Amino acid sequence: MCGIVGYVGSDQAAPILLDGLARLEYRGYDSAGIAVVSENKELQVKKSKGRLQVLSDIINGGKSVEGVLGIGHTRWATHGEPNDVNAHPHLSQDGKIAVVHNGIIENYVELRDFLKAKGYVFQSETDTEVVTQLLSFYYAEDSDIFNAVFKVLRRIEGAYALGIICADCPDRFLAARKDAPLLVGFGEGENFIASDVTAIIKHTREVAYMEDGEVAVISAEGVSFYNIMEQPIEKEHSTIDWDVSAAEKGGYAHFMLKEIMEQPEAIRKTAFSRIRDNKVFFEDLSIGAEYIKSISKIYIVACGSSYHVGMVGKYNLERMLRKPVEVCLASEFRYCDPLVDDKSLVIVISQSGETLDTMAALREAKNLGAHILSIVNVVGSSIARESDDVIYTWAGPEIAVATTKAYSTQLVLLNMLGMYFGDILGTLSKEEYDAIMGELLLLPTKMEKMLEDIEDIKHFASDYFNHSSVFFIGRNLDYAMGLEGSLKLKEISYIHSEAYASGELKHGTISLIEKGTLVIALGTYAPLFDKAMSNVVEVQARGADVLALTTESNVSEMRKTVENVMTVPESHTIFQPSLGVVPLQLFAYYVALLRGCDIDKPRNLAKSVTVE
Ligand code: M6R
Repeated sequence: MCGIVGYVGSDQAAPILLDGLARLEYRGYDSAGIAVVSENKELQVKKSKGRLQVLSDIINGGKSVEGVLGIGHTRWATHGEPNDVNAHPHLSQDGKIAVVHNGIIENYVELRDFLKAKGYVFQSETDTEVVTQLLSFYYAEDSDIFNAVFKVLRRIEGAYALGIICADCPDRFLAARKDAPLLVGFGEGENFIASDVTAIIKHTREVAYMEDGEVAVISAEGVSFYNIMEQPIEKEHSTIDWDVSAAEKGGYAHFMLKEIMEQPEAIRKTAFSRIRDNKVFFEDLSIGAEYIKSISKIYIVACGSSYHVGMVGKYNLERMLRKPVEVCLASEFRYCDPLVDDKSLVIVISQSGETLDTMAALREAKNLGAHILSIVNVVGSSIARESDDVIYTWAGPEIAVATTKAYSTQLVLLNMLGMYFGDILGTLSKEEYDAIMGELLLLPTKMEKMLEDIEDIKHFASDYFNHSSVFFIGRNLDYAMGLEGSLKLKEISYIHSEAYASGELKHGTISLIEKGTLVIALGTYAPLFDKAMSNVVEVQARGADVLALTTESNVSEMRKTVENVMTVPESHTIFQPSLGVVPLQLFAYYVALLRGCDIDKPRNLAKSVTVE
């Protein structure tokens, strides 16, 4: 999605803005631009369709743009096609004000008509230009940009993170937020804004997260914050607990590969600090034992891979808690009049903590009286802040659009939540609890071992990368894991891929299996291994080319029927998908590599989906 960065200090702004935007590239974009004010109050706007490099080449890496204050933007088109004119920043008709914007102004048509009637001529098709021209309209009243911003905020409806510069104010710029992430970074004699901390982490780890309705005035000397009533407010500063190296490739060809390899360590960080004397503790949770016992139903609400975590979680939590668990796509949940009440626990899962559909579902569930517990990676994100309880995955920054380490840490945390609740509810025997705990402690090491030897996965990828259609089949936890394996493959390699519960194949989809169709048969869920085998035979009989995945103890059995088999170490069934997903991630990665795809930034996708 769109990215924002802003800078004021004593260094040349343009190179800093370009560097910040480069660090936001992973979020997905189709055009980029910057606006810089020079000391002689000249406002320069440079923007271009396409990759950031195009813009950088036009302005010689930023060197040809003078000035120490500026804003930058990477745009992911919503209103109007990706082109130079629709790219941000947008400049007001009088050339005095430039704006970058993330989000959507819902009443932009009405405002545009109002401004057109006043003689304003619009250059772009964007909703953002309305903000720029409206600012210019109010600025003309008293030449006070601060007043103009508040007047505009009272008129616009929708979601926004805004960066605003005015040629008459070469020493400060403004920022405003509602329903779109924005933070302020504090430096020595320089200050920043960014929609995502990765843009500025190179310069500072001290930040303040802006809340809805807040406005910031940023100068090199300091930052003043105001609420929507225009009253000054104090903001708490937070320190980011990772540094710039965490958001760099560190010798790997792609962030995705780096993040796959980081999974064992990420799981250690996520899990082990919450284990004492072989028991799981979530000390910061506000829900107590009485509330946990009173829960009548658990909902897991999420999108994409986070939803797939929920699919695995349903099987595991129902087993551990003997309570009904419903997994809902956030985009559906908000419109389905959900039967949620104050006896419902709603677990919201999100890496970014900013996914708009998930956020809307959270608010819907909260209004209905549910307790909201979120599992989130990005500290201080909107979902984290609006939840009653938050458990952070502490996976560090995840840059590749295709999630891997966030998925794995979410999954481990959800299982740990099951252990924690199961212990309180008495639905997990001590023996079972200890067995699960024993495997949890071994999980990172088993994963590390798998990651040391990935030659067979590379080999299978080279066998199959030319296929145009793939089916993942599995039962129970293998089905849930297959959903994620299939999404990984399709999103980065652009191969059409579907995941099916094996038993459901014969109800329609099996008609698509013909000679040479690739079927990835998942047989890691031990209780249903025999059933998995019969489904393998079933698709082979229709000519399918099968690549199987099973555990070490079942590999010889599987090899009697299938030549190509990937293996994973044995674990407790609860954690088997945590191991099984790793070869699927790697398979997707190497297939995409062989197909020459842009692995970290797949077409049409954004890291965090902040539009509906
Ligand atoms: O940040 P979130 O976890 O809320 O994001 C949800 C999905 O957009 C995300 O998982 C998406 O499906 C990934 N591209 C999958 O790799």
